[in-house]
Amino acid sequence: DLLPLKDFLADDFPIGCAVEPAEVVGRPAELLALHFGQVTTGNQMKPDAIQPTEGVFDFTRADQIVDFAEANGMRIWGHTLLWHNQTPAWWFLDADGAPLQNTRAHQRLILDRLKAHVEAIAEHYGDRVWAWDVVNEVLDPEQTDGLRHSRWYEIFGGGKYIGEAFKIARRAFPRCVKLFVNDYNTEFPDKREAMYNLVQDLKRGRVPVDGIGHQAHVDYRRDPQLLGESIDAFKRLRVLQAVTELDVSVSDHMEESLPATPPERLVAQGWYYNELFAVLRERADDLESVTMWGLYDAVSWLRNWPVSRPHEAPLFFDDRLQAKAAYWGVVDPTQLE
Ligand code: G3I
Repeated sequence: DLLPLKDFLADDFPIGCAVEPAEVVGRPAELLALHFGQVTTGNQMKPDAIQPTEGVFDFTRADQIVDFAEANGMRIWGHTLLWHNQTPAWWFLDADGAPLQNTRAHQRLILDRLKAHVEAIAEHYGDRVWAWDVVNEVLDPEQTDGLRHSRWYEIFGGGKYIGEAFKIARRAFPRCVKLFVNDYNTEFPDKREAMYNLVQDLKRGRVPVDGIGHQAHVDYRRDPQLLGESIDAFKRLRVLQAVTELDVSVSDHMEESLPATPPERLVAQGWYYNELFAVLRERADDLESVTMWGLYDAVSWLRNWPVSRPHEAPLFFDDRLQAKAAYWGVVDPTQLE
């Protein structure tokens, strides 16, 4: 019998997992409840899942995950209220079906839509969802202002919508619900700086932001210390922090597609997880939770991105739900020798 990850990490932080409805039934559900103390909805709380048509809300699939989590005493992380992806087309169109423009009227319209969206979610879930990724991936270190030039940004002619989103969320949800800004590559110095500046500006403007989410989609050769350095740097901002979407790619470059996983990379990945969890556990006081972006390799997004990659194996459990070197790297690295 395997030692449950949540027991091994009990003195450090809750260990979470992003799931779809298929993982809360059958054998995957048993594995999930055994090892994890928190769940994130991988796709089912995104704007296109919850409000596919304006005014028509669908919580069915999100509720399957929430109900399972509550029945098993797991904490729930909401992902996400505002994003530039997986947002239905109507959101960015006016009544005549034309794209929204950079005008005051359209800014008001899109914020009214966000408000209606967030209020419906708050009415449905209240404080049953512990934290929300209020805004997702709004940063782009290549831009001089550090902000992604998304449709949201274009309509506002800048990042003003970010603060508005947090104010809308704070008014809608009970005080105890934590409000996060979430992004990837926050371990790299350029993105770290963009995140630091954004959160500092938000706090100076008295915007109610509670925390920073580090997605941590990394690969087995990225220096694990980098994430630790970012966590340390953000402490000065006096906000909460969490690792929200961890996975460790075994690809040597992004487009690589191999018929099978090279076995030596799985071992290297085990050592990688060992080092990374040492970095994270040293900073347990600064982390609200650490969440894996998927339960087992066969359901990982990396299998299909940016091309079909059958060799990808970024998680703790393999296609047959068996613990991999990645798991042993965290729990007992002597098994890797
Ligand atoms: O549901 C349809 C299905 O009907 C269709 O047959 C199939 C064919 O392509 O697509 C299915 O939708 C896919 C969906 O996942 C559900 O599996 C979409 O194509 C696919 O684009 C979508 O990918 C998701 C991705 O976000 C989209 O941006 C991944 O599952 C999800 O893990 C990923 O998660 C993101 C986080 O939200 C934000 N951070 C990065 C992370 C990884 O990209």
